[in-house]
Amino acid sequence: MMETGLGNDLDLAITLLEKGEVVAIPTETVYGLAANGLNDSAIQKIFTAKNRPLTNPLILHFPDIDAILQYVDEFPAELQKLTSELWPGPLTILLKKSKLVPDIITAGQDRVAVRIPSHPITLELLKKLNFPLAAPSANPYGMISPTKPQHVLQQLSGRISYILDGGECKKGLESTIIGVENGEIILYRFGSISVETIENITNQKVIVKNHSENIPVTSGMVKHHYAPSTPLYFIDEHKINIDKENDGFIFFKEDFLGVNHKIILSESGDLEEAAQRLYDSLHLMDHKNYRKILIDKFPNIGLGRSINDRLQRATSKFKE
Ligand code: TXA
Ligand code: MG
Repeated sequence: MMETGLGNDLDLAITLLEKGEVVAIPTETVYGLAANGLNDSAIQKIFTAKNRPLTNPLILHFPDIDAILQYVDEFPAELQKLTSELWPGPLTILLKKSKLVPDIITAGQDRVAVRIPSHPITLELLKKLNFPLAAPSANPYGMISPTKPQHVLQQLSGRISYILDGGECKKGLESTIIGVENGEIILYRFGSISVETIENITNQKVIVKNHSENIPVTSGMVKHHYAPSTPLYFIDEHKINIDKENDGFIFFKEDFLGVNHKIILSESGDLEEAAQRLYDSLHLMDHKNYRKILIDKFPNIGLGRSINDRLQRATSKFKE
Protein backbone atom coordinates (compact mmCIF):
# COMPACT_ATOMS: atom_id res chain seq x y z
CA MET A 1 0.00 0.00 0.00
CA MET A 2 1.16 3.54 -0.66
CA GLU A 3 -0.22 6.79 0.62
CA THR A 4 -2.57 8.49 -1.82
CA GLY A 5 -2.26 12.28 -1.89
CA LEU A 6 -5.07 14.59 -3.00
CA GLY A 7 -4.48 18.17 -4.09
CA ASN A 8 -3.97 20.57 -6.95
CA ASP A 9 -0.18 20.49 -7.15
CA LEU A 10 0.50 20.34 -10.88
CA ASP A 11 4.28 20.22 -10.42
CA LEU A 12 3.98 17.22 -8.12
CA ALA A 13 1.78 15.45 -10.67
CA ILE A 14 4.38 16.15 -13.35
CA THR A 15 7.24 14.85 -11.18
CA LEU A 16 5.35 11.66 -10.33
CA LEU A 17 4.34 11.01 -13.94
CA GLU A 18 7.91 11.59 -15.13
CA LYS A 19 9.08 9.05 -12.54
CA GLY A 20 6.69 6.45 -13.98
CA GLU A 21 4.05 6.68 -11.26
CA VAL A 22 0.29 6.57 -11.68
CA VAL A 23 -1.71 9.77 -11.01
CA ALA A 24 -5.48 10.28 -11.19
CA ILE A 25 -6.33 13.26 -13.39
CA PRO A 26 -9.52 15.24 -13.95
CA THR A 27 -11.11 15.29 -17.39
CA GLU A 28 -14.42 16.74 -18.55
CA THR A 29 -15.88 13.21 -18.75
CA VAL A 30 -14.66 11.20 -15.75
CA TYR A 31 -11.45 11.04 -13.72
CA GLY A 32 -8.68 9.11 -15.49
CA LEU A 33 -5.88 6.97 -14.10
CA ALA A 34 -2.88 8.36 -15.92
CA ALA A 35 0.67 7.18 -16.60
CA ASN A 36 3.40 7.85 -19.15
CA GLY A 37 1.91 6.31 -22.30
CA LEU A 38 5.35 5.44 -23.71
CA ASN A 39 6.69 3.67 -20.65
CA ASP A 40 5.69 -0.01 -20.41
CA SER A 41 6.30 -0.40 -16.70
CA ALA A 42 4.37 2.79 -15.87
CA ILE A 43 1.47 1.58 -18.04
CA GLN A 44 1.59 -1.80 -16.33
CA LYS A 45 0.93 -0.02 -13.01
CA ILE A 46 -2.40 1.26 -14.35
CA PHE A 47 -3.57 -2.28 -15.05
CA THR A 48 -2.43 -3.43 -11.61
CA ALA A 49 -4.10 -0.53 -9.76
CA LYS A 50 -7.40 -1.12 -11.58
CA ASN A 51 -7.24 -4.90 -11.64
CA ARG A 52 -7.84 -4.62 -15.35
CA PRO A 53 -7.07 -7.42 -17.82
CA LEU A 54 -4.19 -6.64 -20.18
CA THR A 55 -6.44 -7.53 -23.12
CA ASN A 56 -8.30 -4.25 -22.62
CA PRO A 57 -6.57 -1.39 -24.49
CA LEU A 58 -6.06 2.18 -23.20
CA ILE A 59 -6.81 5.63 -24.59
CA LEU A 60 -3.85 7.98 -25.18
CA HIS A 61 -4.45 11.62 -24.22
CA PHE A 62 -2.74 14.52 -26.03
CA PRO A 63 -2.64 18.33 -25.71
CA ASP A 64 -3.32 19.02 -29.42
CA ILE A 65 -3.57 17.45 -32.87
CA ASP A 66 0.07 18.13 -33.75
CA ALA A 67 1.15 16.03 -30.80
CA ILE A 68 -0.97 13.13 -32.06
CA LEU A 69 0.39 12.98 -35.59
CA GLN A 70 3.63 11.10 -34.93
CA TYR A 71 1.72 8.34 -33.11
CA VAL A 72 -0.69 7.54 -35.94
CA ASP A 73 -0.12 6.41 -39.51
CA GLU A 74 -3.28 7.91 -40.95
CA PHE A 75 -6.02 10.41 -40.19
CA PRO A 76 -9.11 9.64 -42.34
CA ALA A 77 -10.68 12.68 -43.98
CA GLU A 78 -14.10 11.63 -42.58
CA LEU A 79 -12.85 12.46 -39.09
CA GLN A 80 -11.19 15.80 -39.65
CA LYS A 81 -14.31 17.95 -39.48
CA LEU A 82 -15.39 16.13 -36.32
CA THR A 83 -12.10 16.55 -34.53
CA SER A 84 -11.75 20.19 -35.51
CA GLU A 85 -15.22 20.92 -34.10
CA LEU A 86 -15.23 18.65 -31.06
CA TRP A 87 -11.62 18.69 -29.79
CA PRO A 88 -10.65 19.43 -27.10
CA GLY A 89 -13.63 17.42 -25.89
CA PRO A 90 -15.19 14.05 -25.14
CA LEU A 91 -14.58 12.35 -28.49
CA THR A 92 -12.15 9.42 -28.81
CA ILE A 93 -11.13 8.14 -32.22
CA LEU A 94 -9.43 4.92 -33.27
CA LEU A 95 -6.58 5.46 -35.72
CA LYS A 96 -3.93 3.20 -37.23
CA LYS A 97 -1.05 3.34 -34.76
CA SER A 98 2.53 4.19 -35.61
CA LYS A 99 5.37 2.13 -34.23
CA LEU A 100 5.96 4.65 -31.45
CA VAL A 101 2.85 3.36 -29.65
CA PRO A 102 3.68 0.50 -27.24
CA ASP A 103 1.74 -2.73 -27.88
CA ILE A 104 0.55 -2.80 -24.28
CA ILE A 105 -1.48 0.38 -25.02
CA THR A 106 -3.47 -1.21 -27.84
CA ALA A 107 -3.47 -4.79 -26.47
CA GLY A 108 -1.79 -5.80 -29.70
CA GLN A 109 -4.46 -4.27 -31.98
CA ASP A 110 -3.33 -2.14 -34.90
CA ARG A 111 -5.44 0.89 -33.97
CA VAL A 112 -4.81 3.24 -31.08
CA ALA A 113 -7.53 5.24 -29.30
CA VAL A 114 -6.68 8.96 -29.00
CA ARG A 115 -8.35 12.03 -27.59
CA ILE A 116 -7.72 15.62 -26.50
CA PRO A 117 -9.53 16.22 -23.20
CA SER A 118 -10.88 19.70 -22.47
CA HIS A 119 -10.32 20.02 -18.71
CA PRO A 120 -8.01 23.06 -18.36
CA ILE A 121 -5.80 21.52 -15.65
CA THR A 122 -5.22 18.35 -17.61
CA LEU A 123 -4.64 20.26 -20.83
CA GLU A 124 -1.97 22.28 -19.05
CA LEU A 125 -0.48 19.08 -17.63
CA LEU A 126 -0.38 17.46 -21.08
CA LYS A 127 1.29 20.54 -22.56
CA LYS A 128 4.05 20.37 -19.96
CA LEU A 129 4.84 16.69 -20.44
CA ASN A 130 6.88 15.33 -23.32
CA PHE A 131 4.82 12.15 -23.58
CA PRO A 132 1.10 11.35 -24.00
CA LEU A 133 -0.87 10.07 -21.02
CA ALA A 134 -2.47 6.64 -21.09
CA ALA A 135 -5.61 6.90 -18.97
CA PRO A 136 -8.59 4.63 -18.43
CA SER A 137 -11.35 5.72 -16.07
CA ALA A 138 -10.04 5.80 -12.49
CA ASN A 139 -12.20 3.02 -11.03
CA PRO A 140 -11.52 -0.62 -10.26
CA TYR A 141 -12.32 -2.75 -13.30
CA GLY A 142 -16.07 -3.12 -13.91
CA MET A 143 -17.19 -0.60 -11.30
CA ILE A 144 -18.74 2.87 -11.44
CA SER A 145 -16.55 5.54 -13.00
CA PRO A 146 -15.51 8.50 -10.81
CA THR A 147 -16.75 12.02 -11.48
CA LYS A 148 -15.36 13.58 -8.29
CA PRO A 149 -11.91 13.23 -6.68
CA GLN A 150 -13.61 11.71 -3.60
CA HIS A 151 -14.88 8.82 -5.76
CA VAL A 152 -11.30 8.04 -6.75
CA LEU A 153 -10.18 8.21 -3.15
CA GLN A 154 -12.97 5.85 -2.06
CA GLN A 155 -12.15 3.32 -4.75
CA LEU A 156 -8.38 3.45 -5.22
CA SER A 157 -6.91 4.83 -2.02
CA GLY A 158 -3.59 3.13 -1.25
CA ARG A 159 -3.21 1.93 -4.85
CA ILE A 160 -2.07 5.17 -6.53
CA SER A 161 0.30 7.94 -5.53
CA TYR A 162 -1.68 11.10 -6.18
CA ILE A 163 -5.07 12.49 -7.23
CA LEU A 164 -4.95 15.79 -9.06
CA ASP A 165 -8.06 17.62 -7.91
CA GLY A 166 -9.92 19.34 -10.73
CA GLY A 167 -13.33 19.45 -9.10
CA GLU A 168 -16.41 17.74 -10.42
CA CYS A 169 -16.42 16.49 -14.02
CA LYS A 170 -18.60 18.65 -16.28
CA LYS A 171 -19.91 15.89 -18.55
CA GLY A 172 -20.04 12.93 -16.20
CA LEU A 173 -20.09 10.19 -18.87
CA GLU A 174 -17.09 8.76 -20.71
CA SER A 175 -16.05 9.94 -24.16
CA THR A 176 -17.80 8.65 -27.26
CA ILE A 177 -15.56 6.26 -29.22
CA ILE A 178 -15.70 6.19 -33.01
CA GLY A 179 -13.60 5.09 -35.97
CA VAL A 180 -13.84 4.67 -39.72
CA GLU A 181 -14.34 1.33 -41.48
CA ASN A 182 -14.65 1.32 -45.30
CA GLY A 183 -15.54 5.00 -45.35
CA GLU A 184 -18.29 4.57 -42.76
CA ILE A 185 -18.30 6.13 -39.31
CA ILE A 186 -18.62 3.43 -36.68
CA LEU A 187 -19.60 4.07 -33.09
CA TYR A 188 -17.92 1.65 -30.67
CA ARG A 189 -19.02 3.21 -27.41
CA PHE A 190 -21.88 5.59 -26.61
CA GLY A 191 -20.67 8.56 -24.57
CA SER A 192 -20.79 12.26 -23.83
CA ILE A 193 -21.22 13.23 -27.47
CA SER A 194 -24.49 12.06 -28.94
CA VAL A 195 -24.88 10.12 -32.19
CA GLU A 196 -27.05 12.98 -33.44
CA THR A 197 -24.25 15.50 -32.90
CA ILE A 198 -21.81 13.36 -34.91
CA GLU A 199 -24.35 12.86 -37.71
CA ASN A 200 -25.09 16.59 -37.87
CA ILE A 201 -21.44 17.51 -38.19
CA THR A 202 -20.50 14.83 -40.73
CA ASN A 203 -23.74 14.62 -42.65
CA GLN A 204 -23.18 10.89 -42.52
CA LYS A 205 -25.15 8.12 -40.85
CA VAL A 206 -23.33 6.66 -37.85
CA ILE A 207 -23.25 2.86 -37.70
CA VAL A 208 -23.61 1.53 -34.17
CA LYS A 209 -21.54 -1.65 -33.77
CA ASN A 210 -23.65 -4.44 -32.42
CA HIS A 211 -22.98 -4.63 -28.72
CA SER A 212 -24.18 -8.19 -28.44
CA GLU A 213 -21.29 -9.43 -30.53
CA ASN A 214 -19.15 -11.89 -28.64
CA ILE A 215 -15.79 -10.33 -29.24
CA PRO A 216 -15.71 -6.91 -27.63
CA VAL A 217 -13.71 -4.29 -29.48
CA THR A 218 -13.96 -2.02 -26.47
CA SER A 219 -14.79 -2.79 -22.88
CA GLY A 220 -17.78 -0.51 -23.25
CA MET A 221 -19.03 -3.47 -25.26
CA VAL A 222 -18.59 -5.95 -22.43
CA LYS A 223 -21.97 -6.83 -21.01
CA HIS A 224 -21.33 -6.28 -17.30
CA HIS A 225 -19.74 -2.96 -16.51
CA TYR A 226 -20.20 0.35 -14.74
CA ALA A 227 -21.88 -1.47 -11.84
CA PRO A 228 -22.44 -0.55 -8.17
CA SER A 229 -22.15 -3.20 -5.43
CA THR A 230 -25.79 -2.79 -4.39
CA PRO A 231 -28.10 -4.62 -6.83
CA LEU A 232 -29.38 -2.18 -9.46
CA TYR A 233 -32.56 -2.63 -11.49
CA PHE A 234 -34.67 -0.60 -13.89
CA ILE A 235 -37.92 0.43 -12.18
CA ASP A 236 -40.05 -0.75 -15.10
CA GLU A 237 -38.44 -4.20 -15.11
CA HIS A 238 -38.85 -4.73 -11.40
CA LYS A 239 -42.37 -3.59 -10.54
CA ILE A 240 -43.47 -6.57 -8.42
CA ASN A 241 -40.61 -6.30 -6.01
CA ILE A 242 -40.40 -2.59 -5.22
CA ASP A 243 -40.02 -1.54 -1.60
CA LYS A 244 -40.96 2.15 -1.55
CA GLU A 245 -39.91 2.58 2.05
CA ASN A 246 -36.49 0.97 1.99
CA ASP A 247 -35.05 0.84 -1.53
CA GLY A 248 -33.08 3.72 -3.07
CA PHE A 249 -34.55 5.35 -6.17
CA ILE A 250 -33.00 7.40 -8.97
CA PHE A 251 -35.51 9.23 -11.14
CA PHE A 252 -34.94 11.20 -14.31
CA LYS A 253 -37.50 14.03 -13.85
CA GLU A 254 -39.91 13.21 -11.03
CA ASP A 255 -40.82 10.76 -8.32
CA PHE A 256 -43.94 9.17 -9.82
CA LEU A 257 -44.06 6.48 -7.11
CA GLY A 258 -43.95 8.52 -3.88
CA VAL A 259 -40.87 6.91 -2.30
CA ASN A 260 -38.76 7.67 0.77
CA HIS A 261 -35.19 7.66 -0.54
CA LYS A 262 -34.66 9.33 -3.88
CA ILE A 263 -32.48 11.38 -6.18
CA ILE A 264 -34.05 13.27 -9.07
CA LEU A 265 -31.43 13.79 -11.77
CA SER A 266 -32.99 16.69 -13.64
CA GLU A 267 -36.30 18.25 -12.71
CA SER A 268 -36.30 20.17 -15.98
CA GLY A 269 -35.79 16.95 -17.96
CA ASP A 270 -32.36 17.94 -19.27
CA LEU A 271 -30.43 14.83 -20.40
CA GLU A 272 -27.06 16.60 -20.11
CA GLU A 273 -27.75 17.45 -16.50
CA ALA A 274 -28.90 13.87 -15.85
CA ALA A 275 -25.75 12.46 -17.49
CA GLN A 276 -23.55 14.76 -15.44
CA ARG A 277 -25.12 13.60 -12.17
CA LEU A 278 -25.63 9.91 -12.97
CA TYR A 279 -22.42 8.33 -11.64
CA ASP A 280 -22.30 10.54 -8.56
CA SER A 281 -25.86 9.46 -7.75
CA LEU A 282 -24.94 5.80 -8.15
CA HIS A 283 -21.88 6.26 -5.91
CA LEU A 284 -24.05 8.01 -3.29
CA MET A 285 -26.80 5.38 -3.35
CA ASP A 286 -24.25 2.58 -3.27
CA HIS A 287 -22.98 3.83 0.09
CA LYS A 288 -26.38 3.85 1.79
CA ASN A 289 -26.72 0.10 2.33
CA TYR A 290 -30.10 -0.06 0.60
CA ARG A 291 -31.22 -3.56 -0.29
CA LYS A 292 -31.47 -2.43 -3.89
CA ILE A 293 -31.33 0.63 -6.13
CA LEU A 294 -34.06 1.24 -8.69
CA ILE A 295 -33.60 3.60 -11.59
CA ASP A 296 -35.64 5.10 -14.44
CA LYS A 297 -35.13 4.27 -18.09
CA PHE A 298 -34.26 7.35 -20.12
CA PRO A 299 -35.67 8.51 -23.45
CA ASN A 300 -33.63 6.83 -26.18
CA ILE A 301 -32.44 10.05 -27.81
CA GLY A 302 -29.25 12.11 -27.50
CA LEU A 303 -27.43 11.44 -24.25
CA GLY A 304 -30.39 9.34 -23.11
CA ARG A 305 -29.04 6.53 -25.30
CA SER A 306 -25.63 6.78 -23.65
CA ILE A 307 -27.18 6.72 -20.18
CA ASN A 308 -29.38 3.72 -21.05
CA ASP A 309 -26.36 1.93 -22.49
CA ARG A 310 -24.44 2.29 -19.21
CA LEU A 311 -27.45 1.30 -17.11
CA GLN A 312 -28.14 -1.73 -19.31
CA ARG A 313 -24.62 -3.00 -18.57
CA ALA A 314 -24.75 -2.04 -14.89
CA THR A 315 -28.12 -3.76 -14.33
CA SER A 316 -27.24 -6.87 -16.35
CA LYS A 317 -24.85 -7.91 -13.60
CA PHE A 318 -27.86 -8.49 -11.33
CA LYS A 319 -30.11 -10.25 -13.78
CA GLU A 320 -28.72 -13.78 -13.67
O1 TXA B 1 -13.81 9.66 -21.23
C1 TXA B 1 -13.00 8.76 -21.34
O2 TXA B 1 -12.82 8.16 -22.41
C2 TXA B 1 -12.17 8.37 -20.10
C3 TXA B 1 -11.26 9.56 -19.78
C4 TXA B 1 -10.36 9.26 -18.62
O3 TXA B 1 -10.53 9.93 -20.92
N1 TXA B 1 -11.43 7.19 -20.36
C5 TXA B 1 -12.02 5.97 -20.44
O4 TXA B 1 -11.12 4.92 -20.60
O5 TXA B 1 -13.21 5.80 -20.39
P1 TXA B 1 -11.54 3.40 -20.35
O6 TXA B 1 -10.28 2.65 -20.48
O7 TXA B 1 -12.26 3.27 -19.08
O8 TXA B 1 -12.44 3.09 -21.56
C6 TXA B 1 -11.86 3.19 -22.84
C7 TXA B 1 -12.45 2.20 -23.77
C8 TXA B 1 -12.25 0.78 -23.30
O9 TXA B 1 -13.50 0.16 -23.45
C9 TXA B 1 -11.24 0.21 -24.26
O10 TXA B 1 -11.52 -1.15 -24.50
C10 TXA B 1 -11.46 1.06 -25.49
O11 TXA B 1 -11.74 2.33 -25.00
N2 TXA B 1 -10.25 1.15 -26.32
C11 TXA B 1 -9.10 1.74 -25.99
N3 TXA B 1 -8.18 1.55 -26.97
C12 TXA B 1 -8.78 0.84 -27.93
C13 TXA B 1 -8.35 0.31 -29.17
N4 TXA B 1 -7.12 0.50 -29.63
N5 TXA B 1 -9.22 -0.39 -29.91
C14 TXA B 1 -10.48 -0.59 -29.43
N6 TXA B 1 -10.95 -0.13 -28.27
C15 TXA B 1 -10.12 0.57 -27.52
MG1 MG C 1 -13.77 2.62 -17.88
